[in-house]
Amino acid sequence: MTTPSVPATLFSELKSKIAARQARVAVIGLGYVGLPLTLLYSEQKFPVTGFDIDQRKVAALAKGESYIYRIPATEIQQARAQGFSATSDYSRIREMDAVIICVPTPLNEYHEPDLSFITNTAAAIAPHLRAGQLIVLESTTYPGTTEEVMVPILEKGNPGGLKAARNGASGGGEFYVAFSPEREDPGNQTVARRDIPKVVGGLDRQASELGAALYGSIFNRVVPVSSPAAAEMTKLLENIYRCVNIALVNELKLLSLRMGLDIWEVIEAASTKPFGFHPFYPGPGLGGHCIPVDPFYLSWKAKEWDFRTRFIELAGEININMPYHVLASVVGALNRQKKALNGAKVLVLGVAYKKDVDDLRESPALTIIELLQKEGAQVSYHDPYFPKVGKGRKYDLEMTCAPLTDLAQYDCVLIVTDHSDYDYQDIVKRSQLVVDTRNATRGIQSSKIVRC
Ligand SMILES: NC(=O)c1ccc[n+]([C@@H]2O[C@H](COP(=O)([O-])OP(=O)(O)OC[C@H]3O[C@@H](n4cnc5c(N)ncnc54)[C@H](O)[C@@H]3O)[C@@H](O)[C@H]2O)c1
Repeated sequence: MTTPSVPATLFSELKSKIAARQARVAVIGLGYVGLPLTLLYSEQKFPVTGFDIDQRKVAALAKGESYIYRIPATEIQQARAQGFSATSDYSRIREMDAVIICVPTPLNEYHEPDLSFITNTAAAIAPHLRAGQLIVLESTTYPGTTEEVMVPILEKGNPGGLKAARNGASGGGEFYVAFSPEREDPGNQTVARRDIPKVVGGLDRQASELGAALYGSIFNRVVPVSSPAAAEMTKLLENIYRCVNIALVNELKLLSLRMGLDIWEVIEAASTKPFGFHPFYPGPGLGGHCIPVDPFYLSWKAKEWDFRTRFIELAGEININMPYHVLASVVGALNRQKKALNGAKVLVLGVAYKKDVDDLRESPALTIIELLQKEGAQVSYHDPYFPKVGKGRKYDLEMTCAPLTDLAQYDCVLIVTDHSDYDYQDIVKRSQLVVDTRNATRGIQSSKIVRC
C-alpha cells in the first residue's frame, strides 16, 4: 500500500477541497439513507447535490417539502438556503468531486440479490466520470460488489478510459473508489447520527484516506478497514448478528409459550447481567429493508465458495414462520371465545415494520393481513403513519386507515406494531379481545389480552 496511483496533485487537491468544505458532494438515491446524509453534508456547509430517478422526490425537494416523516420540511428548506438542490440529470456528475451512492439493494422473487439499482447507477455515472473523483458505495451488499460489479461498469463505460486507482497502478487518469456501509437505525432518538462510527474501506490507500476525510467531516469517528470487501462484510456481520439473535428469541418465545413462561420477563431478567448478554426481542416477524434481506446477500455469495451459511438459513426459517404463528394465535384466541376466524372482524394495530417509523418495507403486518384475509377474516388496520396502504412490491392491499373509535365492533384487535402513541390501557378497555405480538400491554391485567 505504498505507491500513489493517481498524480499527487489530484489526490491532494481533493483532500484539501474536503478539508475546506469546498468538495462538491453528490448523493445518489435520496431515500431513507441518502436524504439524511445529504442534509448532514449541507449542515456542514458542503455544496451538496442530490440525484434521484424518482421525479416526485426531486419535485418535492425543489418545493422545500419532505417526504420522510421524521425529516421536517424546515430542514429541507435550510439545506436549500445553503445551496442544496436535487436533480435527475446525471450529466451533472461531472461537476462533482465526491459521489456517494445510496440506492436500494432488494432481493428478487427467488430471494437472490437484485443489484440492478447499483448497476444502473454505475452505468449512469460512467459517461460523466472525471479523473480524481471519489466514488463511494453505501448500499448494503455482499463482499465483492464494489470491486467486482461496480468498478468494471465504471471503467468500461467512461469515454476517457479512466481506471479505478489501485495500489501499484500509475499514470493518472484514475478515479478513487471506496465502500462505506450505512448504519442508520430509523426511529432511534438516543444516538445522534454523527456519533455513529463510520466504517470505510477504499480500493487503495489513497481512496481510503479520501473516504475517511469525506466522512470524517460529518461523523465523529471513522473506522478504516483494509478493503471495500471488508467494509461490505462488516455491515453484513452486523445485520446477520441481529437476524440470528432475533430468531433465537423468537424460537425461545414459542417454547416459553408452550411451557407457560413469559419470555419478556426472562429477557428482562437476563438483561441485568452486566457482561456477555445483549437483549433481543421476539416479534411478529422481521421487517424493514435490512434484517430480512441482507443476510441472504451473503448466503447467495457463499454458494460461489461451496459454502452453506446454515445459521442464516435457520434464522430465516424461524423468522419467516412468525407471521404464521401470529395467525395461529388469533385463531386460538377466537376459538376460546367460540368464534371462527372466517367472518371475524380483525383490527390490525400498527402496520409499520417497527414502532414509530413510517416505513412499510417487508413489514410482517402485510403478510399477517394477507394471511388473515385468506382465512376469511374481515381485516381493517390502524396506523398513525399510514393513512393508506396501497400497492407494494409484494402486496396489493388497497386499504385505508380505520378510526380508533368503535373498537368493540372488532372480534379481535391484533397489536402488530407497538407505536408509542397508542394508549394501550384504553385500547384494552374498549376491545373485546386483544392479541399482543409485542408485549405492548405489559403491566396491564385483563383476561381480554392474549400475548403471543
Ligand atoms: N433504511 C435503512 O434504515 C437502511 C439502513 C442501513 C442501510 N440501508 C441500505 O441503504 C441502501 C438504500 O436504502 P434506503 O432505505 O435509503 O432506500 P430507499 O428506497 O428509501 O431510497 C433509495 C432511493 O434511490 C433511488 N434510486 C433508485 N435507483 C436509482 C438510480 N439509478 N439513480 C438515482 N436514484 C435511484 C430511489 O428512487 C430512492 O429514492 C440499501 O442498500 C439499504 O440496504 C438502509
